[in-house]
Amino acid sequence: MSEKPEKFIDENGLRLDGRKIDQIRDIKIEIGILNRADGSCYLEFGNNKIMAAVYGPREVHPRHQQKATKAIVRYKYNMASFSVEDRKRPGPDRRSIEVSKVSREAFEKEIFTELYPKSAIDIFIEILQADAGTRTAAINAASLALADAGIPMRGLISSCAVGKVDDTLILDLNKDEDNYGQADMPIAMSTDGKITLLQMDGHLTQEEFKKGLEMAQQGCREIYELQRKALIDHYNNTQKEIIQDAPVESVKDISTESATEEDPVISDDVPDNGNTVNDDEIKEDIPDEKEEVILDEDEDNPAIVSDETEDDTLE
Ligand code: CDP
Repeated sequence: MSEKPEKFIDENGLRLDGRKIDQIRDIKIEIGILNRADGSCYLEFGNNKIMAAVYGPREVHPRHQQKATKAIVRYKYNMASFSVEDRKRPGPDRRSIEVSKVSREAFEKEIFTELYPKSAIDIFIEILQADAGTRTAAINAASLALADAGIPMRGLISSCAVGKVDDTLILDLNKDEDNYGQADMPIAMSTDGKITLLQMDGHLTQEEFKKGLEMAQQGCREIYELQRKALIDHYNNTQKEIIQDAPVESVKDISTESATEEDPVISDDVPDNGNTVNDDEIKEDIPDEKEEVILDEDEDNPAIVSDETEDDTLE
């Protein structure tokens, strides 16, 4: 374990890692990288490396956990043994059970669980590398994995912590600031500004609490913008890939902007989605003049009535 630094903030107001007091660490996001999960996200938040996978809505096992009127949300936070300086004993411990519980509660109200009665939405978090703020980083990743899985939500959840070192409030603590600081207050916030998680270690005055909350909310807003951009970029790229994979002919047809009679937009190469009508079908729909004449002459003769009239007769 590293030694406690003498000072956390230098004479220029910068922290030991060069950040300003209200600056979050760099964030890198990759969405949809696990093939077997319904939704997934790999996220780096400073030196934290997190993998989030979402499965569901799916059947609930064990069955007694299922709710008749809504889906249950399960959240499993796990720290890999190699993710921390001193090897962590594998498996759940009191800390990971606590983190899982508060993180699940941060999402429960934001997901439209009532749309999926008797089902489960499972969120799995693997901390591959930890450097303080893993629960907040994991919530950011989980939020994107849920969106990637297509789970209907009121909005995204964004999360970061505020803390205190050298009697100064700082945003998004790193490992040393977390270990040796005076306070650590992680929060999670919905897109419309509702606080869905708030915890606190250490001591803050009322004034510090209010100011700290504002700083953390600002941090969440910045993270939200990054999450939103990552989702838009991901789906833009996915769209491009789909078009690249499509047969050349149909790509050409879809992209045709002005169609002429010789070069119609709807060609035989475009898969029929049931809405397209070709010339032969149109001809069939036009009543046959000859049949019309016979019908006029002998309406009661069932041998020459159309299918439609026959159905009416049966009714
Ligand atoms: O990670 P987070 O800040 O959400 O939770 P924490 O309980 O405040 O832990 C702070 C940091 O302590 C973690 O991010 C890890 O870097 C470290 N830690 C550790 O080294 N060994 C553990 N068993 C648990 C945490």
